[in-house]
Amino acid sequence: MSALSAQSARIVIDSDRLNQELTTLATFSDSAPPAVTRIVFSDSDLRARDYVKSLCLDAGLEVREDSVGNTFARWSGDRPGEAAVGTGSHIDAIPNAGRFDGTVGVLGGLEAIRALKRSEFLPARPIELVIFTSEEPTRFGIGCLGSRLLSGSRDASVDKKLKDKGGQTLRDARTMAGFSGDLGQVLLPRGYYERFVELHIEQGPLLEQEQLDIGVVTAIAAPASLGISVEGQGGHAGGVLMPDRRDALCAAAEIVLAVEWAVKSTGSFDTVGTTGVCDVFPSAVNSIPSRVRLEVDLRDIDEQRRETVLRLIRQRCQEVALRRSVDVQIEVVNADAPGECAREVVEAIEGACRRNQFQFRKIVSRAYHDSLFMSRIAPTGMIFIPCRDGISHRPEEYASPDAISNGTRVLAHVLAELASR
Ligand code: GLV
Ligand code: MN
Ligand code: MN
Repeated sequence: MSALSAQSARIVIDSDRLNQELTTLATFSDSAPPAVTRIVFSDSDLRARDYVKSLCLDAGLEVREDSVGNTFARWSGDRPGEAAVGTGSHIDAIPNAGRFDGTVGVLGGLEAIRALKRSEFLPARPIELVIFTSEEPTRFGIGCLGSRLLSGSRDASVDKKLKDKGGQTLRDARTMAGFSGDLGQVLLPRGYYERFVELHIEQGPLLEQEQLDIGVVTAIAAPASLGISVEGQGGHAGGVLMPDRRDALCAAAEIVLAVEWAVKSTGSFDTVGTTGVCDVFPSAVNSIPSRVRLEVDLRDIDEQRRETVLRLIRQRCQEVALRRSVDVQIEVVNADAPGECAREVVEAIEGACRRNQFQFRKIVSRAYHDSLFMSRIAPTGMIFIPCRDGISHRPEEYASPDAISNGTRVLAHVLAELASR
């Protein structure tokens, strides 16, 4: 038996404990079960963070937080000065979400580290679990906030620029949540991570349909999000005659359909677009809408094609604005390049699948993840596990205890291999 196989044989995942912890984490929520709502810096988010931190401390990890609330739990091993192998994900959840998005990568990451400790593995470099702040864009309109700042993809100016719907700045919200200090210090020093690997549910149907245990992610699609503001003229729903109207919601409705049309016009299955937010002002049944704000999410694995879609949307917005005498402003909140997974991490994941006799395939992530930004500062990979019917961002989201345990096992093996180099 090789040293690697002997080590592998000793890695045992405590699936019952992991699933119990996932169940407990789901109780920190602002919606009734099975739905989970956990918006960044809400009371539920802060209680969930305390819970996860207490588990990390119980596991003997050193815990630190940065000024945006990214949380790091480190197993230093014998060589604390070396660049670390990182793993982790997020625990914030969009409104009316499920229990597995992000949380599997956090608690699975913790269980993988515990399993390695139990196996008496001795890491040659530190292994660090990260719980990223605000992977979800719900509160501040931009996803992967913590990992963008860690990787230098956004700078400290977001502190005052980003505001939630109530007008509270990121700075005030994080300070009230107990995370103060200069946001510039979130940026990690060069070479902080030697490699990074994230475990996550697939959020799509392929692994389940093909009855596979593991997806080995090769690339992460390029996301963009737009804020579109439409300004028309309000008025009395009875008094203003139809030819005289400049109804902002009617214009916005055309824009929503234009987004769908532009996305479908690529003819590619890999281009997707969603208008997920439509705020209407003043939102009274007998008042003509004067102002609408739309939030649009566009994704593609081909960045150029996504840019073409964006151009088409701009053109249609101009046409609608002219024809309906309304003002339309488009703000590109983010337009990110796709992420490539590193061959060495992909190979380590494939090797771990083979050693464990798991069936696997290569797969592209259509969802974005903090790994998109980690891939800009360290060789990065992702491990996907199947989820029922590919459902995610809904209360019905489900990954079986076996699927979670398999993914955690693969993660533990990958961490062991990467932390031995
Ligand atoms: C992440 O939650 C995403 O929307 O892809
Ligand atoms: Mn999500
Ligand atoms: Mn996620």
